[in-house]
Amino acid sequence: MPADRPAPQISLPPTHQAIGVFDSGVGGLSILMALRDELPLEDFVYVADSGFAPYGERDEVFVAERSRIITRHLRKPDALGIKALVMACNTATAGAIHLLRQDYPALPIIGVEPALKPAVALSRTQRIGVMATRGTLASQKFKTLLDSLTGQAEFICQACDGLADAIEHDEKEKIVALCAIYTRAMGHFGLNSGEMDTLVLGCTHYPFARAELAQFLPPGVQLIDSAGPVARQTRRVLTHLASGDGPGQLTLQSTGNPALLAQAAQRWLGCTQPVQTLVL
Ligand code: DGL
Repeated sequence: MPADRPAPQISLPPTHQAIGVFDSGVGGLSILMALRDELPLEDFVYVADSGFAPYGERDEVFVAERSRIITRHLRKPDALGIKALVMACNTATAGAIHLLRQDYPALPIIGVEPALKPAVALSRTQRIGVMATRGTLASQKFKTLLDSLTGQAEFICQACDGLADAIEHDEKEKIVALCAIYTRAMGHFGLNSGEMDTLVLGCTHYPFARAELAQFLPPGVQLIDSAGPVARQTRRVLTHLASGDGPGQLTLQSTGNPALLAQAAQRWLGCTQPVQTLVL
């Protein structure tokens, strides 16, 4: 090649870019666990918006604004420039996924919704309990999901005010008390006709209260969340998968008390790295 011509630019696929994951707090770690199992070579940046949690009892305008601020931060090309975004929060997905997809048409954005469809497939009694935040249950997105399943099962939906917040702060007695109140309020669980044999955990915080919930449910009742399907969907939509020998890197960031995320990440993921504090 003549010396005066510039060398051709080789454009490599951006395999090193991280996948952004966010939630109002530590709940999205339940999704991140499944993502790291499904995509062990990928780098992840996890943002806990703990300074503004809980989302579930706020209005959609607030949740949409926070979702936009966090996504802008994760997309900053000079810093993170994520290649995909996982909204690891049912409430944020319900209130804002359509807006973020408008804002970032080229960015793969994966949301999470309560696992109603898998529950219909699993349930024998066709009576299904659904625990979620007030915001998720009130959303148009959830109503559309319910309507799409009309006639296939009966759903008993319970708004669980305070439960995500208690899990966020690891307040054990409060978690147990709220699990007792909400499971009782929903009615009879069991495997017989007319009883709820399946319970959908429609908030990403709730899988961290599985043990407490199970205390109030008869044996055999199935608790289901959306982590596995979200992780598989993320793999499907990624255009460039990371390659390499070692496990991917994880960056943890929080807009609130970093100790909450550090403790939860250590407990659930075995991660001990420091949490970066964000001002957003
Ligand atoms: N973890 C979130 C969800 O899946 C929200 C919890 C909250 O902040 O209220 O809905």
